[in-house]
Formats: sequence, C-alpha cells, structure tokens
Amino acid sequence: MKKAHLLGFIQHGVNSHATGMWRHPKDKVGWSFARPPYWEHMARTMERGFFDAMFIADELAPYNSYRNSSDATVKWAVQCPTHEPSTIAPIVTGATTHLGVGVTLSTAFEHPYSMCRRLSSLDHLSGGRIAWNIVGSYSKSEWDAYGAPMDDRSRRYDRIEEYVELCKTLWDSWEPDAIVADRGSGIYADPTKVREIVHDGEFFRCHGRHFVAPSPQGHPVLWQAGSSDRGRDFAAKHAEAIFAIHPDIAGMKAYSEDLSRRVVDRFGRPENSVKLIYGVQPIVAETRSEAEDKYAFIRSLMPPEGSMAMLSGQLSVDFSLHDPEALLDDVAAPGIQGVKDALVRSGAGEEVTLREAAETYSSRFAMPALVGTATDIVDQLETFMDEGGADGFMLLATYTPGCFEEFADLVSPEMQRRGRLRTAYAGRTLRDNLLQD
Ligand SMILES: Cc1cc2nc3c(=O)[nH]c(=O)nc-3n(C[C@H](O)[C@H](O)[C@H](O)COP(=O)(O)O)c2cc1C
Repeated sequence: MKKAHLLGFIQHGVNSHATGMWRHPKDKVGWSFARPPYWEHMARTMERGFFDAMFIADELAPYNSYRNSSDATVKWAVQCPTHEPSTIAPIVTGATTHLGVGVTLSTAFEHPYSMCRRLSSLDHLSGGRIAWNIVGSYSKSEWDAYGAPMDDRSRRYDRIEEYVELCKTLWDSWEPDAIVADRGSGIYADPTKVREIVHDGEFFRCHGRHFVAPSPQGHPVLWQAGSSDRGRDFAAKHAEAIFAIHPDIAGMKAYSEDLSRRVVDRFGRPENSVKLIYGVQPIVAETRSEAEDKYAFIRSLMPPEGSMAMLSGQLSVDFSLHDPEALLDDVAAPGIQGVKDALVRSGAGEEVTLREAAETYSSRFAMPALVGTATDIVDQLETFMDEGGADGFMLLATYTPGCFEEFADLVSPEMQRRGRLRTAYAGRTLRDNLLQD
C-alpha cells in the first residue's frame, strides 16, 4: 500500500496563499515570521508529523496586475510582505534531523552559475536536505521589478531548459574523488578531475569551474510545477517531484496518466521516478461541524479586493477591467496555466465567474478543501492516492503554525494507523526520504 509524502506549503512572509490569514486570532500568536524561533518551531512540527519537507513558495515582487498597481496587494497582505526564501533553509534544517526544505528560486534574473553555487552550499549545510522548486517568474510584477520585458511562456521554457542543463553540467563537473586533501604534498584537489565548463548557449555564457565541491545529494532534489504542455514536458524530463492542483479525482487521474506517459515514453525515465504531489487544504477538527465552522470563519476573513489582486497577479491579467460575472474560461491568461485550469474546473461542472474564481483562489488556491475530522480527511487522501495517482500532498497553510500542529496531532497519526504514512524516516537525505515507498 502506497504511503503519502507530505509537504508543508508556506511562504517566508506574513501571509502565505490563503489571503487574510494574518488576521486570524490564532495566527502566529507569540511568533514573528521574520525571526528564527518561528521557523524552528514550524520545522520541528512538520518533522513531528513525518513530513518529507517544508515547501517554501515564492514570487519576486508584489503583484501589480490589478488596476495596474500593487496597492491592493500591499493593502491586503496578498502574499506580501514576503522575505527571501533560501535564507531560512539553514534554520529549518538546523532545527531538525530529517526534514527537508524545498526552496523556490527563479531562473529569470539570476545566472545559473550563482544559482548552482548557492544551492550546493545549502545542500552541504543541510547534510543533503535541499530541494529546488524551479520557476521562471510568471508574474508581470517580477519582470517590472527587475526592469525587463516579460518573455512569453514558450521563450521562458526555452530559457529554463538551457538554464537547468547548464546547472546539471556544473553540478556534475567534480568527480567524486577529486578532493585528495593530502597534507604531506599540500595537494588539496586534482584539477584533472574538476572539469572546466565552457558553455556558449542561446541564453547563457559560462566559462569556469563550479566553485563548490560535490554536496551530499550531488545536486538538490529538483521540483517543478509547470502544467502547460511545455511545463509538463519540462517536468517530465527533469523533475523528481511535480506539484499540481486538481480540484477533482478525474483531473488528478488524467494528469497522472499524462505525466507517466511523458516520463516513460517521451523521456525514457523509469516509471515512478517522479513523485506526483497534489495540493490540498486540510481543515481538521474533532468533529465535522466544528471543522465546518472553522472553515466558514476562515473564508470570512478573505478580503474581496485582495482576492482579485491575487488572481490578477497569478494569472497576469488585470481583472478590474473585466465584469466580475464574466466567465473565467473566456479570458486568456499568460500566467500560471495550471491555476487557471484548476479554477475553471473548480465549479464541479458549472461555469465559473471571475468573482467565484477569486473567492476560491484566495481561500484554497483551487485545491480541494478537506473539511472534517481526521478520519474524513484521511478517507479523501486515500482516494486521491488510490484513484487519482497521488504520491503525496502539499498542505496549504491557513493560520500558522497552528494548522500544521493540528495536522501533526490529528491527521498524521490517523494516516500512520492506516499504513499511509511512514513511522520512521528512510534515510538522511531528502532524496532518500522522497524515494521511500
Ligand atoms: C502548485 C503550484 C505551485 C507553484 N508555486 C510557484 C511559486 O511558488 N513561485 C512561482 O514563481 N511559481 C510557482 N508556480 C508556477 C509554476 O512553477 C510555473 O512557473 C507556472 O505554472 C507557469 O508554467 P505553466 O504555464 O507551465 O503552468 C506554481 C505552480 C503551481 C501549479
């Protein structure tokens, strides 16, 4: 029986994806998100719940698509303020023994050479518990902030493809026995075993040696979440775990079949070499009615204008120019394709208006909301695994750290009781644990 891989999906900011949670009376009571003790506690809580990793999502600037301004983003704390994600990785792995940390870092404005160096350094510091969520910056605000015109999706993926190939070349350039460290002769490393990279590509030039010796995992675990056709191919070729949002089983099933065809047939990788991780939003309580009340209260905290600003940012469309009762499916969106598709399908067969899409999005990111007791929630997780092809779940945060404490206290033990969650970690590296059945 398949066991689930769990990831805690958050941001290094005052508020993650569920908009308005910063004002929930249980949010961050006694904690500052900008200080290490909060992250140490979150990390220990996730390890207590036998998660594989903390997944730190990120974008590079406040969304500015709505009314061509970031006012609403700033006003309603729409994933804002958000601090740099890799800075907390050593705190998270320093406070834990097994928990990994997945860091979202964009390829858009950083050269692959420095990206590799940073990720190798983090992998060393963590003893091999780092993953890289590879993104290419989908939001207009990110390109505006860096003063560059936004590439279209196809060109973004051409560039990412070359980027990741170059990173892999750099990571593989030190042979395992390159370091001699012979104090007698004074020779530290054998230069014939540290390849000089000469890359003159369409997007990047790089002449030099990787500055960091091989890290415990060789390179970080590679994660990706593209869901357009190009995105799926990229993920099937490179990723070790893929994130997707599907509001229903039919979507999960179709996606998992499509991905395994691409992984095996198109890229010749072994079956099951990529873990499929689906987003869910668990709202757990001791009783079903308590959980429903809890969810209604959470939804009441969502600011409508902030919700529209978030949707505008993620889909790179100014929805203030559209009628809120217009249908989402009729609007072309250059931003995150997977988000749009999931939202269109979130109406369970009914067409979804922009107003409904914004509400759904800002509360649960188009993920299925699992509202109920631990038994109810695990029933659904089991169905997603057995019928939807899920290898695991990323758990969308509501108020923190409480939502993860509740999961670790109530849901993880129920999963373990049913043989659906590890009771011990398989190894010391994140890759070891992610590959664990
Ligand atoms: C579940 C999920 C989580 C994502 N998280 C991030 C993120 O934290 N930061 C980011 O820049 N992009 C994020 N993305 C965007 C994707 O990585 C990708 O860049 C985007 O979906 C555009 O590619 P696509 O059109 O192929 O989907 C996420 C996408 C999904 C579906």
